[in-house]
Amino acid sequence: MTPDLHTRHRAALPDWLALYYADPIELTHGEGRHVWDADGNKYLDFFGGILTTMTAHALPEVTKAVSEQAGRIIHSSTLYLNRPMVELAERVAQLSGIPDARVFFTTSGTEANDAALLLATSHRRSNQILAMRNSYHGRSFSAVGITGNQGWSPTSLSPLQTLYVHGGVRGRGPYAHLSDAEFTEACVADLRDMLGQTRGDVAALIAEPVQGVGGFTSPPDGLYARFRDVLQEHGILWISDEVQTGWGRTGDHFWGWQAHAQSGPPDILTFAKGIGNGMSIGGVVARADVMNCLDANSISTFGGSPITMAAGLANLSYLLEHDLQGNARRVGGLLIERLRAIAAQVEGVREVRGRGLMIGVELVKPGTDQAVPAAATAVLEACRAGGLLIGKGGGHDTSVLRIAPPLSLTVAEAEEGAALLERALRTAP
Ligand SMILES: Cc1ncc(COP(=O)(O)O)c(C=O)c1O
Repeated sequence: MTPDLHTRHRAALPDWLALYYADPIELTHGEGRHVWDADGNKYLDFFGGILTTMTAHALPEVTKAVSEQAGRIIHSSTLYLNRPMVELAERVAQLSGIPDARVFFTTSGTEANDAALLLATSHRRSNQILAMRNSYHGRSFSAVGITGNQGWSPTSLSPLQTLYVHGGVRGRGPYAHLSDAEFTEACVADLRDMLGQTRGDVAALIAEPVQGVGGFTSPPDGLYARFRDVLQEHGILWISDEVQTGWGRTGDHFWGWQAHAQSGPPDILTFAKGIGNGMSIGGVVARADVMNCLDANSISTFGGSPITMAAGLANLSYLLEHDLQGNARRVGGLLIERLRAIAAQVEGVREVRGRGLMIGVELVKPGTDQAVPAAATAVLEACRAGGLLIGKGGGHDTSVLRIAPPLSLTVAEAEEGAALLERALRTAP
């Protein structure tokens, strides 16, 4: 008898490639905000393949663009002119808010951050990087070297010297008890203190405006603008990792950095996930002088391939034409209010936080601040049993439920998902 797919997965793939659920799901198809598994079960998808199905599953506009491009040419490499790549670069440059912007396409968020680190360290001739505690920036050797989340950083070896700064986690840590203004001042003082103790120049600060893997935590609005002022005193670059926060997901803004816009845009911005709606697109945007500082050739064979770019263009057009950022703000606002009302009535929810369609529900042992990863796992299972897929995250003691549906979520689907989550919170062991 052929072993089941789970057994084959375990035998053929690495142990560290974690699967959700005791009995993992094989998803076979999707439509809109729903997916189906190989047994025919239907789920409301509140995680979008880790914030990647940005507009909707099987969006006809994206499917058509992919199939038409596949019928013409799938790959040409960066050695030849590529119309969809130039068009998407023009649109991303214009949307980025970065003046005189250049765009380099990669195939993942990791590779985008890797490129950003290469640019920043080359431009500044320094391998010192500031990163945030509790951050996640990808899985490559350089990206894990700037990941402030122990659970996702399998080695301490690194090509970079990284200094971890306070500020990404508002509700925990030594400054949690302070007001927003005091919190910001304390983090700015910490940054200044750290810079006073470094040897030589620091290349860049990299930060997720809302920490994704870290459990949808964020600083008070404006903190990165204050950081930016300090960084500019030293010529240090600001890299905004928008892999999760990009394209209007936070509702209030198109990019996460815009909640911290008082001192202007970042020098470098990285993106991935949602723009391709599942096609592998990542990229880095930078001012021309930063982007052009490399004095050797550099290519990504698959980066910007015609088929992924065609998908990205169709997906971005749909997002803008249907104002999905506005939808994320409206429906996400309703959803977060509904979840807060539910949380007030169930034990063990420490906080419901986030903005737009990027919502975290932090679970703790009732009456304490103690994380309970087992509770998050149990709620995930209970949601699945009820027909709802969600994610989880948080520091190394993963205890935060993560809710990030496609940005086309309807009010009825938000209400249905909230009701399913409420039942799971009440019934999970
Ligand atoms: C903020 C952030 N940056 C970078 C990455 C890495 O992206 P990828 O998995 O596409 O390499 C992720 C992935 O979750 C992410 O959340």
